[in-house]
Amino acid sequence: NNFASVSQESCIACGACNSAAPEIFDLDDNGIAEVIYGGDSNRGITAIAKELLEELQEAIESCPTNCIQLSAVPFA
Ligand code: F3S
Repeated sequence: NNFASVSQESCIACGACNSAAPEIFDLDDNGIAEVIYGGDSNRGITAIAKELLEELQEAIESCPTNCIQLSAVPFA
């Protein structure tokens, strides 16, 4: 499971994902998170390197609204 995407309608802009995994998540001007890894633009189509999967898991666990989706296959 190494494809990730933020369900932005559920993101409350807490920033925890960006703190846990800054190479994967960034916050837009409104503080809403997006997957930036590899230029993904939150499409969930860029496989995240296995060296970063631990950080990714920490980000997922740190999100208070569970809005980071994980998949074994690309989202689109
Ligand atoms: Fe949003 Fe969750 Fe990150 S609320 S800012 S996706 S930790």
